[in-house]
Amino acid sequence: MNVPDKIKKEVEQLRKDIRYHNYKYYVLNQPEISDFEFDSLLSKLKDIEEKYPEMKDPNSPTMRVGGTPLEGFSHVSHEPPMLSLDNTYNEKELEEFEERVLRNLENKVDSVEWVVEQKIDGVAVSLEYENGKFIRGSTRGDGVVGDDITQNLRTIKSLPLELLNNGQKYSRLEVRGEVFMPNSSFLKLNKEKEEKEEQLFANPRNAAAGTLKNLDPRIVAERNLDIYIHSYGTLPGDIKTHREALDILEKIGFKVSSVREIRGSIELSKDLIKEWSTKRFKLPYQTDGLVFKVNNLQFREILGSTSKSPRWAVAYKFPAERKVTRLNEIEVSIGRTGIATPIAMLEPVFVAGTTVSRASLFNKDEIERKDIRVGDKVFIEKGGDIIPHVVGVDKDARDGSEKKFKFPDKCPVCGETLVQPEGEVYYRCINVGCPSQVKKSILHYGCRDGMDIDGLGEVLVDQLVEKDLVSNYADLYYLEQGEIEELERMGEKSAENLLKGIEDSKKRLFDRLVFSLGIPFVGTYNAKLIAREFSSIDKLKDATCEALLQIKGIGDNTATSVVSFFKNKKNLAVIERLRKAGVTMEGKTKRKGELPLAGKSFVFTGELEKYTRREAQDLVERLGARAVNSVSKNTDYVVVGENPGSKFEDAKKLGVKVIGEEEFSKLISKEK
Ligand code: IVH
Repeated sequence: MNVPDKIKKEVEQLRKDIRYHNYKYYVLNQPEISDFEFDSLLSKLKDIEEKYPEMKDPNSPTMRVGGTPLEGFSHVSHEPPMLSLDNTYNEKELEEFEERVLRNLENKVDSVEWVVEQKIDGVAVSLEYENGKFIRGSTRGDGVVGDDITQNLRTIKSLPLELLNNGQKYSRLEVRGEVFMPNSSFLKLNKEKEEKEEQLFANPRNAAAGTLKNLDPRIVAERNLDIYIHSYGTLPGDIKTHREALDILEKIGFKVSSVREIRGSIELSKDLIKEWSTKRFKLPYQTDGLVFKVNNLQFREILGSTSKSPRWAVAYKFPAERKVTRLNEIEVSIGRTGIATPIAMLEPVFVAGTTVSRASLFNKDEIERKDIRVGDKVFIEKGGDIIPHVVGVDKDARDGSEKKFKFPDKCPVCGETLVQPEGEVYYRCINVGCPSQVKKSILHYGCRDGMDIDGLGEVLVDQLVEKDLVSNYADLYYLEQGEIEELERMGEKSAENLLKGIEDSKKRLFDRLVFSLGIPFVGTYNAKLIAREFSSIDKLKDATCEALLQIKGIGDNTATSVVSFFKNKKNLAVIERLRKAGVTMEGKTKRKGELPLAGKSFVFTGELEKYTRREAQDLVERLGARAVNSVSKNTDYVVVGENPGSKFEDAKKLGVKVIGEEEFSKLISKEK
């Protein structure tokens, strides 16, 4: 199909506008238009690109969602090599570096100007542009050869796919920077991983590195990576200083380290060292130091590099903040799946931006290795991590009153003997009737991603278990109104609501039941994979390890865990009780395209009574629909709550179906 000129022009204009606003929002943090207006521009462009596929372009702002998965990465050579930085750890070493620089400039000058930047704790990458277009991006690798990760880098919203403000005049441009994962995204990602019982990332840097090496750009697109540019290849000769270069890079679209202070000497930079040694903990990402760079580019030429690092720049590393506090007690906590984790209960202490009062001691071996005793003065650090650790003991501070910790051989909750599975470092309570596991497994059963039982919170579950009204999740279905009414903070109405919530849960989709059973290693994702292959409890009950391993994405741990779960007689008895109560025990879990609301899109505006915005969005997404932020003519439903915003008006103007909360509830409960 021939694309009319009018459309071509419109697409060009839209892309230009979006690029500009993307820059204002993600790079400069100075949005000029509302999210709604931005989303409208983007969905308009998407609509046209869908209608005229000839207009698709890898650099279009609509392409940040990640392309098709790759088989592997090809290699890219770095010329000049991507060097590293020498480190200094105190002001004296920094001053010695300055003296060396002056000496290497043959003392022709008395001082040099320094540009001081933050040292971002991330992953170094190189980005190449030709005639203003992003053509390739790669990892540092060994400094000489790295991996081509272009498709993954494209998903980073602050990375310009096309340069602005005449940036195309640099016919070839190579810039280098640091990709990082903001702290909040890291915590969210690890929480999701924990939920799925997957290996956690140790810190945001590892998470960023792991994400960049993922072969599926769509996963990368969901991880919210960001980038700061701090260096570049060869620049046109009329640029004289680093600071000028950074300012130009920012002008043409790059997100450049916002700290780029100029100081006349190291002595005059000390204020920055002091300022950032504490202020860094308030940043939404990790920094581990400052970088001092000679500003004058001609001086840099003269100074040159060693094979490892430039002679014109150096890192000043902040010491990891380390505090001493008293270890008051060690508690052993039993997780939902029975793992016994020792937790240091600390005299509260402020470390790297937050008050720390507990820290995991991981396992028995770790306590012995570090010789940690109750009553010890211990060192707490967060290091490159945002999770506090006990790094060691101040043994000189001991007065003899400290007590060696005896790791309990019995579960502190149920008294059953703890066992150490072969080849494992941890101890486990394997009593499925252990109250700690019972409470946690009931809460897990009723959680939002599970059987979603309204009103089943921690306080209530504590009472139900302690009063012996339930000893496993199947017992929930046999509760009676009168029993619940008598509990603290419960009345007739709340008891009725709880029973209704329990009743409603009987109809949940089968994969939710598989997740809710609480089988170690079976999170929401694995539960879906399993339920897709084994469409009923009876089939799943008889599944062999080999059959489970046939499912793409299911590994040894999960397969063994499922098989042993269904071998356990107590578990089978609980399942029979669920069946008797009328809980749905089968049902094909649909692939995304087959879900009941597949292909539909929802926009929410105003406040709903029963759901937060996020909950409502989650609900429709679970059913295969998309929750989007702005109304277009392609939107299927606009759900309107109290005090709706402009989206309500937009829906009316565009003739999109508007529904209220009641209708929305009906629509989803029919499908859930
Ligand atoms: S300049 C020639 N500036 O730290 C060296 N590096 O430990 C060019 N880094 O490999 C690097 N923040 O990946 C520079 N503001 C910054 C930086 C920075 C983080 C990384 C960089 C480098 C590593 C060295």
